Amino acid sequence: MTTTIADAAGASAQAVPRVPIPAKGVDYRNKIVLAPMVRSGELPSRLLALKYGADLVWGPETIDRAMIGATRKINPRNGLVEFTRLPSNGGRTNAAVKESTIYRIDPNREKGKLIYQIGTANPELAVQAAKMVAADVDGIDVNSGCPKPFSTSGGMGAALLRTPDLLCSILEALVKEVGEPFQIGISVKIRILADPQDTEALVTRLVRTGITGLTVHCRTTPMRPRERAIRDQLSMVARICHEAGVACLMNGDVTSRDHGLELMSEFGVDGAMIATSGEANSSCFRSQADGGLAPWRDVVYEYMRFCIDCENRLGNTKYLLNMLIPGKAKEFNQAKVAKSYLDVCRFLKFEDLYSQAAAVDVILGLDDKWTSPLDGEAPSQSDTKPDSKSEAVKNAMTSESARAAGGGAARKKTPSPAVHGGGPVRRTSTPKPKTAEASADQPIAESPAPASETQPQVQPQAV
Ligand SMILES: Cc1cc2nc3c(=O)[nH]c(=O)nc-3n(C[C@H](O)[C@H](O)[C@H](O)COP(=O)(O)O)c2cc1C
Repeated sequence: MTTTIADAAGASAQAVPRVPIPAKGVDYRNKIVLAPMVRSGELPSRLLALKYGADLVWGPETIDRAMIGATRKINPRNGLVEFTRLPSNGGRTNAAVKESTIYRIDPNREKGKLIYQIGTANPELAVQAAKMVAADVDGIDVNSGCPKPFSTSGGMGAALLRTPDLLCSILEALVKEVGEPFQIGISVKIRILADPQDTEALVTRLVRTGITGLTVHCRTTPMRPRERAIRDQLSMVARICHEAGVACLMNGDVTSRDHGLELMSEFGVDGAMIATSGEANSSCFRSQADGGLAPWRDVVYEYMRFCIDCENRLGNTKYLLNMLIPGKAKEFNQAKVAKSYLDVCRFLKFEDLYSQAAAVDVILGLDDKWTSPLDGEAPSQSDTKPDSKSEAVKNAMTSESARAAGGGAARKKTPSPAVHGGGPVRRTSTPKPKTAEASADQPIAESPAPASETQPQVQPQAV
């Protein structure tokens, strides 16, 4: 029997009070959402999840100090909001410093759907950082579940589970100083504690801080990601949330939209959050009734379009490509290690993306990495004769020089399709897998991209 969102909602319909959802905020109830994921949750992946039906998307945890002092810009080529900053140069004075983009937001396609997650252990810093982005996002979430030492040693993430006074003061400060003036909701993502009574005591305090939502990752802090989620505290957490009028999302081993809906119904929670299944194939957000899992090549094609459109850092693009391209698909291993967008598209045989890929390579300075010129004519960046470049490359260079000069260059690239909708996509030279199910079931790639290419520039590693 298929569970619908209405059936699942019925299980939590008895909730009596409700913390009001601020005018510009979003209600987490009846939502299947993309989890916050450092590296895997950058803008292209979020757009991909939305395309396949995620109701809300969480951005990757961003540490308060990383966002404080960042500069907000609008990218004139694609209209994205970008927060940039100079990375620390580790004390080197002569090192060439280049601004890095620490956070990207699509103000159109993410409108009403983006939750910004903050890593913090300090109410003042949390407020300062949250104010930087509050006008561009639909909610602020506090990470209280990251078990990694880089987070816990600074008192952040899962360390906050052991300092509930501090966690509550952070949430209260955010509610009062960011949530109220900006009219967005504040939420928290926790893990369960080993003793259910401790979880109960913690959640009872958290729901009184003014938050509108709470996500519970059904693993304890020491549990490894591969260990099965424990769901026996879930109903208790949901009950406490409901008594206080706070929406409760569950997380941990939710594999698809349909699975999430079943679990919502079974445990009386308001919504479900998906992480690793979304990393492996973002079409898990599409219900079986709407087509279910898509073949990995379709998903990768859409992903590449978003990466190109967002001018995503290639190292980050390849990080998720490693997840999306099944390990068995050996013939595509070259794509996972290619050094330019054009070559990734060549190895994947996405011919209709070549010119856009080449254009973004020029913008990102990757065109000197091409294995051969585009269409046998476009030279590498080192060639100074602009006349010898293809039209796509010239367009990109015009845009780029206008941008460097501070101008708003006209958009030359084909805009991305609307997140929901749009017609069928052309996939020239793309051998179709036999069935959606057969290909989507394949395991994800095992070999990650080299660390040097996947390290985030400012943000911490996966949580
Ligand atoms: C690559 C990766 C990065 C993650 N980054 C974050 C993060 O930034 N913030 C956070 O709260 N949890 C983070 N997590 C934890 C997930 O949000 C989620 O709680 C966990 O993976 C369990 O969900 P799952 O069983 O669906 O994978 C991360 C997980 C992964 C795999």
